[in-house]
Amino acid sequence: MNIVKDKILVIGACGQIGVELTTELRRLYGSDNVIASDLRDEHILLKGTGPYVSCDVMNKEMLHSIIVQHKITQVYLLAAILSATGEKNPALAWHINMQSLLNVLDIAKEEKLSKIYWPSSIAVFGPTSPRQNTPQHTVIEPTTIYGISKYAGERWCEYYHNNYGVDVRSLRYPGLISYKSVPGGGTTDYAVEIYHEALKNNSYECFLTEDTYLPMMYMPDAIRATIELMEAPIDQIKIRSSYNLSAMSFSPKEIGSAINKLIPDFKMTYKEDFRQQIANSWPQSIDDSSAQQDWGWKPEYNLESMTVDMLENLKVQYNLPC
Ligand SMILES: NC(=O)c1ccc[n+]([C@@H]2O[C@H](COP(=O)([O-])OP(=O)(O)OC[C@H]3O[C@@H](n4cnc5c(N)ncnc54)[C@H](O)[C@@H]3O)[C@@H](O)[C@H]2O)c1
Repeated sequence: MNIVKDKILVIGACGQIGVELTTELRRLYGSDNVIASDLRDEHILLKGTGPYVSCDVMNKEMLHSIIVQHKITQVYLLAAILSATGEKNPALAWHINMQSLLNVLDIAKEEKLSKIYWPSSIAVFGPTSPRQNTPQHTVIEPTTIYGISKYAGERWCEYYHNNYGVDVRSLRYPGLISYKSVPGGGTTDYAVEIYHEALKNNSYECFLTEDTYLPMMYMPDAIRATIELMEAPIDQIKIRSSYNLSAMSFSPKEIGSAINKLIPDFKMTYKEDFRQQIANSWPQSIDDSSAQQDWGWKPEYNLESMTVDMLENLKVQYNLPC
């Protein structure tokens, strides 16, 4: 594994995934070899841990010059408009999600970058896809603008790989749960908010109904999956659109019960909003056997072990007795 001479740019480094992915990449590749960038101010957890440049991924010239100037060899593109925010402004979501990817793929082709990472989502699936154990290859008719943009993005990734030899790799993340950085406007955000509210107020009003099952994953598994995919030998990467990825599937009622085991007086109420309709169009569980077979994917966390870890870490953040 030749990870020493690579120079990595993480775009959208201050978001929910970016903060943790940048931290882990810096640990593996060396702080100076991983440049964080975002539209926002540098995230507090990244400050002092390595180089930071302010960059709007929509400004292709600026992005191109950052890549050339810093001799970047790999790009992780995490900037995007997520599902719930996207439904409020579909034109903006389409524009940002598509153009950011095309800018990066074009520069990768021109500058012959060694590898690109771009995440897709389980939101590519729609109401006509099988809802249980949704296969890698199946009917894909997304009904949200976020899902439509992710699906189009997958096709672009495969196109750039097939036609221009760009080594672009991708995962269809399920809903991601983390305690370090707040989520950025997705439909699965409830599964993060619930832990904060359980500790702060002993109660949580959920915007999805109690029996809404969705595929989910704890952030340490998502970060490990991302790096394992990127480090896998090129001949093991057989899917150039995006790999299904899975860890667990649960409903709001089940995550509430898992929290109840550790906080017995925690109470949940339900008041669905527009995000229910988005959730209803998505799979309940995902078949990730291609990822398992091709590059050996295996998750570590389940609902119980994640709940213990989330609450322990959030107690430290809120200065609560452990
Ligand atoms: N978090 C999840 O549960 C989840 C699930 C499936 C897929 N994904 C995908 O993973 C990626 C990262 O998601 P996230 O949850 O970290 O999102 P996020 O919203 O938390 O972070 C995105 C970051 O991108 C930055 N950004 C937005 N526009 C930009 C621009 N024009 N130029 C530069 N930076 C810009 C934002 O400031 C933000 O810090 C996205 O592609 C998302 O669709 C996330």
